[in-house]
Amino acid sequence: MISESQFPEGVIKIDESFRDIDKTHIRRTKNIRLIPDLNNRRGGKLAYSEWAHVIGIFQTLFYQNLTKKYSNNILDIGCGTGLLGIASEPFITDGGNYTGIDVMKEDIDFCRSHYNNSQYDFIHFDISNPSYADNQSKTLQEWPVEDNTKDLVTALSVWTHLSETDALFYFKEIYRVLKKGGRAIITFFILDEDYLASLKKRSNSTSRFNFTNQLEWLFKEEAYNSKNWFTTTWAKNPEDAIAISTDGINQLIKESGLKLIEKYPGNWKENPGIFFQDVLIFER
Ligand SMILES: C[S@@+](CC[C@H](N)C(=O)[O-])C[C@H]1O[C@@H](n2cnc3c(N)ncnc32)[C@H](O)[C@@H]1O
Repeated sequence: MISESQFPEGVIKIDESFRDIDKTHIRRTKNIRLIPDLNNRRGGKLAYSEWAHVIGIFQTLFYQNLTKKYSNNILDIGCGTGLLGIASEPFITDGGNYTGIDVMKEDIDFCRSHYNNSQYDFIHFDISNPSYADNQSKTLQEWPVEDNTKDLVTALSVWTHLSETDALFYFKEIYRVLKKGGRAIITFFILDEDYLASLKKRSNSTSRFNFTNQLEWLFKEEAYNSKNWFTTTWAKNPEDAIAISTDGINQLIKESGLKLIEKYPGNWKENPGIFFQDVLIFER
């Protein structure tokens, strides 16, 4: 499993006190009160402020991509500790629901206790991912979700951890569970022209996008001998970080039957972008 940082007790206490004080000052963004404590913030986003920021970005995208603004059925694949569950909250009122699915049992257990509202539902998906659930052996199972039932499917930083075989299989699952006209918001690392252009900028130490604690997002290794799925040199398993070429993205679209509606380039390629990873919107 990718290790998430463990923090000294003092740091946890400061985070807890900060969240308590911050809650008393929140005026106009009521759902961010649900942001978990530091040890339960996942998905490569640890800071409270970064969770709040990312929730805001995706809440905006949800608004733009949902035809009706209430009563939606939202399915979040690889929900982690529920960041997109928080972003979903306004759109599931009046009889809608949010279902989060994840291969990590401990995160599902956390979500069940933390988001204990009947409109939230969490499913432990008992299949293998070498980076997140290497103790589980099943592969390529259908999600326990009925056909044509979801208004929106989301996956934040999940197709960046799936091999080619898994990525193709589960992309078809998105098509299966979406209602006709339903949308999917999925993030990727896409190896396109922007990526190639960014390689020159990365060798420039004055880059304004260089953070000291940043991993190097260079995808030079084939992931399991794939032509279109790549990983980094620092990855222990390919699933630690996976990027897909534009041909791979076209293959996902062709084999799933989903239509590509919009592409928001990610700022990981050192261009301004709404989010770190590339965000693609699809429609059934
Ligand atoms: C980088 S984390 C992102 C978590 C969450 N979406 C977020 O952004 O906070 C990737 C998540 O995908 C989950 N995951 C990996 N493979 C999966 C699969 N095949 N099906 C469902 N979840 C999966 C992992 O357990 C992990 O929680």
